[in-house]
Amino acid sequence: MSSRCDLVLADVTLPDGRVADVSVRDGLVRHVGAMLPAEQVISCRGITVLPGAVDMHVHLRGGIQREKEDWESGSMSALAGGVTVVVDQPNTIPPLITPEAYRNRVAEAGRNSLCSFAINAGVAPGSDPAALWREGAIAFGEIFAAPSSYGEALSAEALSAALSGIGSLGALATIHAEEAGPGSPENLADHARNRPSRGETETVRTIFRTYGEDTRLHFCHVSVAGSVAAAGSASVEVTPHHLFLSIEQSFPDDTLRKVNPPLRSEKERQELWRMWDRIDVIASDHAPHTLREKNRSFGEAPSGIPGVETMLPILVARMKDGLFPRISLIEKTSWTPADILGIPRAGFQPGERADFALYGREVTAVSVDDLHSRAGWTPFEGFPAVFPDQVILAGSPAYRDGEFQETAPRWFSGRGYHP
Ligand code: DOR
Ligand code: ZN
Repeated sequence: MSSRCDLVLADVTLPDGRVADVSVRDGLVRHVGAMLPAEQVISCRGITVLPGAVDMHVHLRGGIQREKEDWESGSMSALAGGVTVVVDQPNTIPPLITPEAYRNRVAEAGRNSLCSFAINAGVAPGSDPAALWREGAIAFGEIFAAPSSYGEALSAEALSAALSGIGSLGALATIHAEEAGPGSPENLADHARNRPSRGETETVRTIFRTYGEDTRLHFCHVSVAGSVAAAGSASVEVTPHHLFLSIEQSFPDDTLRKVNPPLRSEKERQELWRMWDRIDVIASDHAPHTLREKNRSFGEAPSGIPGVETMLPILVARMKDGLFPRISLIEKTSWTPADILGIPRAGFQPGERADFALYGREVTAVSVDDLHSRAGWTPFEGFPAVFPDQVILAGSPAYRDGEFQETAPRWFSGRGYHP
């Protein structure tokens, strides 16, 4: 006799419009149809249920940067925004370029993260991709083709060596493609001219043409339509800040909006939206910095915008306005990143991970007072948003009406893992 289920989500509107009950046991969906006997039933009538998002580009900091963020605050921010899996970037201090640093990072996340996670390995001259692959790296990079906050650019030779090493492992290389000029820009428009759209697009094109045949490539946070088009058969990622913010909408020297790649013109922002169907992944590039650091002069302020908690809420609000179909949002924020990385999907089929976010009917506005990141600010203040009322992680309620409950987050290791 089969044992009772842990949870049923009742009256869920599925992506194809049918309404069904989703029965869950031991962290996985067991049955979709009429409900099975269960310990707990949550009514989902009339609300939007999405598979938990996989945010494949977050910087959760920690260590000597814990004032900006750490695993606890960053993962709370993720869950409260409907993200159940985060993929952490390796430009920590120290960077994750040795097996020991990588192992320590996994252990730290295991102790402190409230959501599931995967961790990329860093790439630096002399680092050994094979050793990091065996430790469980899910992917490599972001690999900096131009310098950024806490990221040094690789020389052409180092990039070539790294990408062929990663390619021979059959691993994924994720690329921060940019071209940065000299000098210290003093406002957003100068910053965008210093790291021009065309430079980004040409870097994407060259890297894809040179390495795309032998190495599986993913282009992180591209900021303009031309770069999306230049990525060939590689996967491309776009952030909410490039989709929703532009130079014209900002104060000229607003350091909070200083980010790499830079915000672009309003015209370029609108062109980026027209590439919606070709964009594979939307990821936040959650890059928290404190207000104290951002209050320096424009030239000295670090680049980066926090966004893991606001990504889905502002996108769900736009989806409700009819800007794009629900299935495309699920693909770009959950299924495609999972497929690219080799993480099992969350979804509505038996056997899929039972990670879900339940978004209420109410459209509210983003307010920094409600957010959980240590950064303590957001460029999306006042944006229409639909936040999840409840989030389910591996079949258990993990977040409900502002409260977090203990669950069992998972580490997703890459294919090279040798325990
Ligand atoms: O603006 C950015 N900030 N771009 C990056 O690529 C790195 C990030 C950070 O870590 O702060
Ligand atoms: Zn980056």
